[in-house]
Amino acid sequence: MLSTSSAPAKAILLGEHAVVYGQPAIAAPLANLRAYVDARITALPLQVSASHAGGAPFFWCKDESNATNPLERAIELCARYFAVSALQGELAVRSDIPIASGLGSGAAGSAALARGVAALLGRELPDEDLNAIVYEVEKLHHGTPSGIDNTVVVYERPIYFVKGRSTDFIKIIRPLTLVVADTGIPSPTRDAVADVRDQLKRRPGQTQDLFERIGALVEQARAAIETGDHQQLGELMLQNHSLLQALDVSSALLDRLVEAAMRGGAYGAKLSGGGRGGNMIALASHDTQASIAEELRRAGAKRIFVSSVGAAS
Ligand code: MEV
Repeated sequence: MLSTSSAPAKAILLGEHAVVYGQPAIAAPLANLRAYVDARITALPLQVSASHAGGAPFFWCKDESNATNPLERAIELCARYFAVSALQGELAVRSDIPIASGLGSGAAGSAALARGVAALLGRELPDEDLNAIVYEVEKLHHGTPSGIDNTVVVYERPIYFVKGRSTDFIKIIRPLTLVVADTGIPSPTRDAVADVRDQLKRRPGQTQDLFERIGALVEQARAAIETGDHQQLGELMLQNHSLLQALDVSSALLDRLVEAAMRGGAYGAKLSGGGRGGNMIALASHDTQASIAEELRRAGAKRIFVSSVGAAS
């Protein structure tokens, strides 16, 4: 018997990096970009393969535990959660989400995989427990994750998130059209997060001030989302991008893409996720998404896609 589970990519709408230090942030699932797991029940010892964007499987999970491999860590945590010593069956992970690009590929892969393990066992895995498992795996990807990526990916709803507090789900009264553009430059979140930590040590006052200003933008952005004011939300995203530049997590290409999106008619645009490379997001309308995509392509984006947030929530 074959069953398929999945989890979406995510975009941080505002608040990345500052969220690691207790400020609020807003994130949304990108429902049309996903990681999938096909689970096939067999009586043989567990076999796991993973493939990316339609390519050949690149990972084959053997019996021995490899604590630094996120997929194996996810399986190990699931086995412990379900109190089983030896899993049986086949799990094939397929992901369309670019890796190390700020879109939550790690969290989505782990979430889908854990759902696949539950499917193999025919057991329930409540979102709250899945979230805790994926958070543990995220530590391998990020070092000191805030927890925002696993939360938005597992619950697959737009969230207002503050580390260590219960998460608020945001009601989107007017769907957001996001144009997402990839610089094509992989950038591990762990490195950007470590550099920001370093900066906080070297310039505590200035860096803390940037975090607080980002947090203030997030509060205003939540109100803008909840009142459907896309003009205001776009303006806040641009301001957030400037503060991320001041935190030194942008790059020349990300800045060029933000400018290109604005030329194309975006309400606002910013880098999304860890920064340095990875992806940027532009807030578009139905009428501007094509011109924004065209400008982004001309400015050097390697891959562009459009995702609607809140259309069905
Ligand atoms: C990564 O998607 C967001 C960061 O704020 C890291 C984190 O929150 O764990 C850069």
